[in-house]
Amino acid sequence: MPLLEIRAFYLYYELFIEDSDHLLTNDILLMPVTIIVGAQWGDEGKGKIVDLLSEDIDIVARYQGGANAGHTVVIGEREYVLHLIPSGIFHKHVACVIGNGVVIDPIALMEEINMIKSFNITIEGRLFISHNAHLIMPYHKLLDNIREQGTNKIGTTGRGIGPAYIDKYMRTGIRVVDLLDRKVLSEKLKANIEEKNRLLSKVYGSAELDVDKIIGEYEEFDKKIDPYVTDTSVYLNAALRKNKKILAEGAQGALLDVDHGTYPFVTSSNPTSGGACTGLGIPPTAVKNIVGIVKAYSTRVGNGPFPTECTDGIGERLRSVGHEFGATTGRPRRCGWLDMVSLKYSLEVNGIREIALTKLDVLDAFDEIKICTGYKKDGRILKTFPTDVQTLDNAEPVYKSYRGWNATISDAKKYKQLPKQTQHYIEIIEKLSGVPVSIVSVGARRDQTIQR
Ligand code: GDP
Ligand code: IMO
Ligand code: MG
Repeated sequence: MPLLEIRAFYLYYELFIEDSDHLLTNDILLMPVTIIVGAQWGDEGKGKIVDLLSEDIDIVARYQGGANAGHTVVIGEREYVLHLIPSGIFHKHVACVIGNGVVIDPIALMEEINMIKSFNITIEGRLFISHNAHLIMPYHKLLDNIREQGTNKIGTTGRGIGPAYIDKYMRTGIRVVDLLDRKVLSEKLKANIEEKNRLLSKVYGSAELDVDKIIGEYEEFDKKIDPYVTDTSVYLNAALRKNKKILAEGAQGALLDVDHGTYPFVTSSNPTSGGACTGLGIPPTAVKNIVGIVKAYSTRVGNGPFPTECTDGIGERLRSVGHEFGATTGRPRRCGWLDMVSLKYSLEVNGIREIALTKLDVLDAFDEIKICTGYKKDGRILKTFPTDVQTLDNAEPVYKSYRGWNATISDAKKYKQLPKQTQHYIEIIEKLSGVPVSIVSVGARRDQTIQR
């Protein structure tokens, strides 16, 4: 049998075996999944918390987004930034899954695999890539960047995310499984590139793409990605039946969700917790817990409404103390106070049961700390979050003000070691949000964390 057919055969043979297994055990209701979701506009510190929680976890699985994400993990003095590979990779016992909901840029993925390997971390047998995940093509990145030069700038990361999801929903996208068959791959690529070339030359007046060159590149990529490809939904459901503990790692944040965020200034996927089930092919009944990662203040990178943004010295101070520069693009992040209006909305939409509060140490030297509790708009006070840009524009934040603690908290190991004012700020967040803060992060390193 030719090699390709053997590979395809094994993929479906495994499916068949798992299928009969599934029928026997479907009624056992185990719930070993915890979803980790960014509760704001991304960059809340998901990478740090996922790495931390991975210690007691079997599998970490990314469910949406692509290399637009930049998840930082700091171990000792070394800092790692991950874009596609789940943040559990630094724990040898953890298996990492890139789910069907993710859009994979092969170039970014290979760079990342090589980066991880260069630190003598074994990936083979630990990384599983969904055969149903869509691939980011050179034309997706090109179109993303061309559109950003037009009038309706979103301020994207330029990683081709929007155009790749357009093709997915247009049903013309190319998936990892298509790499298995050279004929299918070349036909699909040709059809796509011809269409994109018409768009590039006629609409955007841009140079056309070389079909053969791209086909060659993706055939080359196939050889490298092959050992990692599997049906990850089958893999995860089998793990669920064995009661393996799974962390579903969200990228971006709830307010960037294409359905629930500040549309159109959003990303093109569903970072909210609901996206975890569709993005991994696991049932909602398997979800036990949802942890919201919340930064102690707010940041946003890219365009769009941001009611508590401080364009004055406060914003600059938050940016410089918090090193608020994009982990993917290096762009300065817009900064401002914690926004309880959008946070309460996010907690509700995601069903967040506990909060991991991050970057609290960044507020160490502020005399006054503010929390927005409502928006003033056209003489009325809005207490619920309006996601439409028209209402959010010129919505004036109403603040409650708190005294700062003026002390260094990064060395605190226990909650009781935190200054009273710091404890007060945490408890105010719990009171206003109605959700307990179970983890307090006081620095980028693993040991700079207080679990309550
Ligand atoms: P993610 O996209 O949600 O994973 O977050 P990013 O990695 O893009 O941005 C978070 C940044 O804050 C990274 O540089 C982290 O190393 C850093 N960080 C995470 N938690 C803390 C914390 O509690 N204190 C400080 N000072 N930095 C933190
Ligand atoms: P992590 O996972 C912060 C923002 C972009 C832009 C919008 C759309 O590190 O938290 P896209 O490239 O997705 O089409 O851009 O979304 N954005 C992020 N902002 N953190 C991220 O990821 C982001 N990923 C996308 O800046 O405003
Ligand atoms: Mg980030």
